[in-house]
Amino acid sequence: AKVHHHDFVVQATPVKRLCKTHNSITVNGMYPGPTLEVNNGDTLVVNVVNRARYNVTIHWHGVRQMRTGWADGPEFVTQCPIRPGGSYTYRFTIQGQEGTLWWHAHSSWLRATVYGALIIRPRKGDSYPFPKPKRETPLLLGEWWDANPIDVVRQATRTGAAPNVSDAYTINGQPGDLYNCSSKDTTIVPIDSGETNLLRVINSGLNQQLFFKIANHKFTVVGADASYVKPFTTSVLMLGPGQTTDVLITADQPPSRYYIAARAYASAQGAPFDNTTTTAILEYKSANCQTKCASIKPVRAIMPAFNDTATATAFTTSFRSPRKVEVPTKIDHNLFFAVGLGLMNCPRGSRSRNCQGPNGTRFAASMNNVSFVLPSNFSLLQAHQQGIPGVFTTDFPGAPPVKFDYTGNVSRSLWQPVKSTKLYKLKYGETVQIVLQGTSIFTAENHPIHLHGYDFYIVAEGFGNFNPSRDTSKFNLVDPPLRNTASVPVGGWAVIRFVADNPGVWLMHCHLDVHITWGLAMAFIVEDGVGELQTLEAPPADLPVC
Ligand code: C2O
Repeated sequence: AKVHHHDFVVQATPVKRLCKTHNSITVNGMYPGPTLEVNNGDTLVVNVVNRARYNVTIHWHGVRQMRTGWADGPEFVTQCPIRPGGSYTYRFTIQGQEGTLWWHAHSSWLRATVYGALIIRPRKGDSYPFPKPKRETPLLLGEWWDANPIDVVRQATRTGAAPNVSDAYTINGQPGDLYNCSSKDTTIVPIDSGETNLLRVINSGLNQQLFFKIANHKFTVVGADASYVKPFTTSVLMLGPGQTTDVLITADQPPSRYYIAARAYASAQGAPFDNTTTTAILEYKSANCQTKCASIKPVRAIMPAFNDTATATAFTTSFRSPRKVEVPTKIDHNLFFAVGLGLMNCPRGSRSRNCQGPNGTRFAASMNNVSFVLPSNFSLLQAHQQGIPGVFTTDFPGAPPVKFDYTGNVSRSLWQPVKSTKLYKLKYGETVQIVLQGTSIFTAENHPIHLHGYDFYIVAEGFGNFNPSRDTSKFNLVDPPLRNTASVPVGGWAVIRFVADNPGVWLMHCHLDVHITWGLAMAFIVEDGVGELQTLEAPPADLPVC
């Protein structure tokens, strides 16, 4: 196995999009950032130098980080941020994962421009469990703001209102030709007639689930979140932020140009159509298109509607592991997490500049009514490992304080989450089931729930209130998919299972950045087991301090 050394310089770089030039925070001057390519079993050593004027950390989304929790990256969870002028070297080994992951800043909203693909090929000498494709193309779906994304989130935090939505969606950093000033830079994916291309699709957007489609072509889905899946065909994908999907496409159509498009799904804002579709172009090399072969009209016609939950569900429920897997059946911790928004009442008389949410409130979000607050003087992992008191408590509730009808009109008294830093403790090797129930408070949304340091099996999903006596019998305990981010359906629930075999402190959160900003997060402590292989490694000497 190889050791790959990389330098990531985080810096302000002029980037021109939508007719304007912005000083954006980038890695090595690139937007999106560099693609890392490794083989399963390889080690990555990435020296991150912060030349920007913001704190930064880098998270290796989906990498299991077995015993290397210090390299995971979420700020104030596994490390203090890298201050301007500082640096930190992330070291970790890819163990058993193959497919597509990605990396992104895990500090404020910096990941809007600080992100890139992480491609993990089979071990040297091993091959894909499908015919080797002629080409491979990473496609990063993203969001672009005309304003500085850090200012956007700061304003939302100050006012209590919802943040501004992005000004464009992007594919490999380009908005595509439905947007102003973007046509000539539209991302082109070349292909030859008859050829098969492996597309590694990543939703690196901040706040939006996306449908993804290519005109006139079908996908064979072969992987997701760096695990292979039982191949299935579909004409449309749906990815929540954080999720990746690997698909094969074959150039079996008349040589031409075909639109590749992503469009917002389940937008809380109701998604004005024209602003929520981004395009790239699949171009057959033999087509010799001097002018555009594809027109805008077909894109509008082919994309599902922004509220097409039936299409989204048909896709997310098609995933299976390639073969029978070992799902934990004896459950040590049977947890129920109610996830969703809340509204904080403002004290009477203070309904002013910082209470601009609905009816003079402030937006919040919670898990089991706890709105998560990050510490500021220690990382949680450091506090746990060194036994520093007063940084967090370990009383995160395994169930909501009151259960209610999550599909109904929810009483205002239940909308008030409590702000605190509560963790949930697991012993090494224990088994966990979590029912993730969307509360639909204020608005029904899809929540892409991401667990750091782990992959989990999604054994079931459904709509309405989770009902153990009705729904448990439908669990797939034979070949459920292994993921790191679960799309909890709009107005519904998902059930996940995992074994706590990786010691450390691991954040679990909604991957919509607006929701994590509002507190839709918690963290697990997984205690060390017995013996060296069950123990978190010592912290690196250059670990940033707060
Ligand atoms: Cu990709 Cu905590 O995130």
